[in-house]
Amino acid sequence: MRDIQNIVILTGAGVSAESGIDTFRDAGGLWEQHRVEDVATPEAFARDPDLVLRFYDMRREAIQTKEPNAAHRALAKLDAEWSGGLLIVTQNVDDLHERAGAKRLIHMHGEHLNAWCTVCDMRMPWIGPLLDRPACPGCGAPGSLRPDIVWFGEMPYRMDEIYDALGSADLFVSIGTSGAVYPAAGFVREARAAGARTIELNMEPSQGSYWFDEARHGPATRLVPAWVDAMLDQA
Ligand code: OAD
Repeated sequence: MRDIQNIVILTGAGVSAESGIDTFRDAGGLWEQHRVEDVATPEAFARDPDLVLRFYDMRREAIQTKEPNAAHRALAKLDAEWSGGLLIVTQNVDDLHERAGAKRLIHMHGEHLNAWCTVCDMRMPWIGPLLDRPACPGCGAPGSLRPDIVWFGEMPYRMDEIYDALGSADLFVSIGTSGAVYPAAGFVREARAAGARTIELNMEPSQGSYWFDEARHGPATRLVPAWVDAMLDQA
């Protein structure tokens, strides 16, 4: 195994599950309660904006009542103490990684606590509802704000930076994601192609489990702190 300098960590809904935020595909998960086609596509927003805005307003309100858990805190500690390269790429749209203190972080699927103006293209922090169609604070256009969330059929954010990091990764760790949604589900193969060691930390084998050199199964609040402690001990 080559020396580990550069680490890329991919997180998904499982890392926030123990903070009380629903995952998407577990039993009772969000996509059992709502159809993706109704709330998470540009077509759904065009067809029934009130339904989509109400769905995201409720989720935006709910995440503000949640707290980071031991897995978020452990990753923030690794970010602070790892002297080599490190990038946390999250598919999550909550802000629990940054509230735990993580800095080297990319939200590839957007952020609940941001709004995006479809007229002037400005993105801005947003904690309140969007259903009442507030004017854009930047350009003043009425009713132009949408959730800054990457919907199905839209391009995830900052992919060039992510692929650059994967291309020089020595270690790729996937945490709490089912491996069902691309392009994130393909990151393990990108990292392998670059010669990285690959580890999965998840409650159960993901759809892409086969591609990992090593898999540990259990709750993120147990697996992640143990893995982080081991990484910092060997550094
Ligand atoms: P999923 O709901 O598809 O998968 C969550 C994974 O976390 C599952 O494999 C669970 O077994 C695992 N899990 C659940 N609780 C856990 C725990 N306490 N500790 C560790 N693992 C746990 O969520 P994602 O893979 O994040 O995209 O979903 C990917 C994308 O699909 C989301 O970002 C979202 C969704 O549609 C968009 O909205 C664009």
